[in-house]
Amino acid sequence: MSNYDPTCIADIVFPSELGEMLIQSIISGDRPFPQSGKNGILLYGVFGTGKTALAKLLPDAIETQKSGNSSGFTFVRVQSGNNATALISKIQQQANFVPLFGDHHYFVLDEVDNLSPDAMKSLKSVMNITGTVFVLTTNNLNKVERGVQDRCHMVEFNAAPDTAWLPLVRRIINDQGVPVPDDQYLLTVISNAKGSARRVVDLATECVVKYRRQQRMLNVAPVLTPIVPVAVNEATIVV
Ligand SMILES: Nc1ncnc2c1ncn2[C@@H]1O[C@H](COP(=O)(O)OP(=O)(O)O)[C@@H](O)[C@H]1O
Ligand SMILES: [Mg+2]
Repeated sequence: MSNYDPTCIADIVFPSELGEMLIQSIISGDRPFPQSGKNGILLYGVFGTGKTALAKLLPDAIETQKSGNSSGFTFVRVQSGNNATALISKIQQQANFVPLFGDHHYFVLDEVDNLSPDAMKSLKSVMNITGTVFVLTTNNLNKVERGVQDRCHMVEFNAAPDTAWLPLVRRIINDQGVPVPDDQYLLTVISNAKGSARRVVDLATECVVKYRRQQRMLNVAPVLTPIVPVAVNEATIVV
C-alpha cells in the first residue's frame, strides 16, 4: 500500500476552516506575510494532527507563490538537552546572510517548546531580523514565550472532525480498486481512529484487507467433504 504522507498543502486535513483560511491567505499572498512584525506561523495542538507535516510544506508553498522558487528552508527538530543557545546563534548567523533563494530565510523549528527559557528569549530577538520567516510547532503552547507567540500567526491544530477524513479514506480504498462503502460506514471506521491520522490510514487499509478476505472466501470453490461412515455405538441403541 502506498504512502499517504501529505506531499502538498491540499493533502493536509485541516482541523478547522478558520485555520485553513488563514494558511491559504498567507500562501496566496492575500494576507501580506511577513508584515508589521509578524513573521511567524505557530501551529499548536495535540500530538499526531499533522503540525510537523504542514510545517515542512509551508515554506515552499509560500515562497513558490512569491517568487516561483523553492525556499531552501532550514529544518530543526528541537529536542530538550540540545544545546539550544548554540542552535539559536547558528540561526542568527544564517539569518544575517543574504538568502540563497528568494528574499527570505525560512526556519522551521519543530517542537519549539523544547527550547530552554534562555534560548526562547534569544529566539524572540532572532525573529526581529529582517527577512526571516519562522514556522514553529508545539504540543505545549504554554511553554512558548508570549513574545514569540505575539510575532506569530497562531493556528490551532487539534484533531480534525471525523467528516474531514472522508476524502482521504475514500481515496485510500478507491486506490486499491475496492468499492467504497457508504459514508455512514466510513464514519464509524474513522471514529475509531480518535483523530489520529496514522490510525485513519491504518483503519482504511484494514477495510481493504477485510473486503479482499471476504471476496476470497466467496470465490473459493466449495470443497466436497468425504462421507465418513458414522460408527454406531450399539450400547446406545434402545430396543
Ligand atoms: N492533518 C493531517 N492531514 C494529513 N495527514 C496527516 C495529518 N495529520 C497527520 N497526518 C499524517 O500523520 C503523520 C504524523 O503527523 P505529524 O505531522 O507528525 O503530527 P504532529 O506533528 O502534529 O504530531 C504525518 O506524516 C501524516 O502522514
Ligand atoms: Mg510533530
